[in-house]
Amino acid sequence: MRMYDIIMNKRNGDALTKEEIDFFIEGYTKGEIPDYQASALMMAIYFKGMNEEETLNLTIAMENSGEKLDLSAIKGIKVDKHSTGGVGDKTSLVVTPMVAACGVPVGKMSGRGLGHTGGTTDKLESFKGFNTSISTEEFINNVNTVGLSIMGQTADIAPADKKLYALRDVTATVDNMSLIASSIMSKKLAAGADAIVIDVKTGSGAFMKTEEDSFALAREMVKIGNNAGRKCVAIISDMDEPLGYAVGNILEVKEAIDTLNGKGPEDFFELCLTFGSQMLILGGAAENEKAAREKLYKVIDDKSALNKFAELVKAQGGDEKPVFDTELFPKADIIEEILSEKEGYVRHIECEEIGLCSLLLGGGREKKDDVIDPTVGLVLKKKVGDYVKRGDVLCVMHANDRDKFEAAKKRFLAAYSFGDTAPGEKHIIVGKVE
Ligand code: URA
Repeated sequence: MRMYDIIMNKRNGDALTKEEIDFFIEGYTKGEIPDYQASALMMAIYFKGMNEEETLNLTIAMENSGEKLDLSAIKGIKVDKHSTGGVGDKTSLVVTPMVAACGVPVGKMSGRGLGHTGGTTDKLESFKGFNTSISTEEFINNVNTVGLSIMGQTADIAPADKKLYALRDVTATVDNMSLIASSIMSKKLAAGADAIVIDVKTGSGAFMKTEEDSFALAREMVKIGNNAGRKCVAIISDMDEPLGYAVGNILEVKEAIDTLNGKGPEDFFELCLTFGSQMLILGGAAENEKAAREKLYKVIDDKSALNKFAELVKAQGGDEKPVFDTELFPKADIIEEILSEKEGYVRHIECEEIGLCSLLLGGGREKKDDVIDPTVGLVLKKKVGDYVKRGDVLCVMHANDRDKFEAAKKRFLAAYSFGDTAPGEKHIIVGKVE
């Protein structure tokens, strides 16, 4: 078999066989197929697409390219969750302890990734001493004893995807539905859960800007999951404005803790309940959404979800005291209100721009070796639909550098659009695919 022929077949619009896909993934992972041929194939796939069978075969080949977690030592149905990512998305910090407190074991592998704020593992590292680089044995042991463990993704999980994703990133071939779906699902399948709930974000702060594309991606991922023998549900949720109010690592952890205390933002809590319910249903702990929600409300009311979160932090070497007193978290040097220069209803918030403010302040990573400042970010005080008078506080910005603060402030103010009338009502949950 020759890589040249595989590229030509796809360029001509033919479907690739399982053997061709396996040949490519194996050769590329081993370094026997050069980047220039892999890029040519990615571009051919970008233009010609892949059918359902090819997408599944690519996913499985990437899943099999490295270590696969064997979670059979964990009792019960293991349910994982994944989000395609968005601004202010701290859902995993709330949903995973809620679900674990209801008795469904959660072992979650989280990517670090590039982005406006850190990933889930970066947010957890806001707790002094929290170790996300635990061994697979510790991970399994913690799921069995605590009911919950979250670890960083190891380099051995789906290494083919790691290499290919980096290549796609610099060759303008990321935004192809089949490539995104197979990339995400290869990692999820290798991480070993029996069932997967996926949060597909839609809107200005998401990968997928339109509902049509978001539903298509959701369908593609659910199909792969089901074809690979896993139960899979996707929820499409709104990312046209930041989720909740806080954007930035410690600020988001605080908001997650508020939510576990039953005092979280409404949109965010609704999303957590929706996800938690799906995870309980797939995990066999609830018959239907109503029963699931009752259980989830109970673990919030009796604080067992909050206590489960503290147990997670402690079990992974972290100082859990801030879970019960968030004032113990370190703070940024500059904490200042940003006042509105305009008046009217907030019609739109350019979500990605808010994420970029956090990045500018040092709260995210542009390059993979960048060090995150966990204290910086912003807490919104006005969201879409709110009426704002000139001089009202739009957000509180947290920074450690005056120049960065000024740059982020300018960007922040430009991200808000106002109008004379209130915009139509929007819902956080846009749809479901199963
Ligand atoms: N996230 C991934 O892991 N892969 C993609 O291709 C896109 C987003």
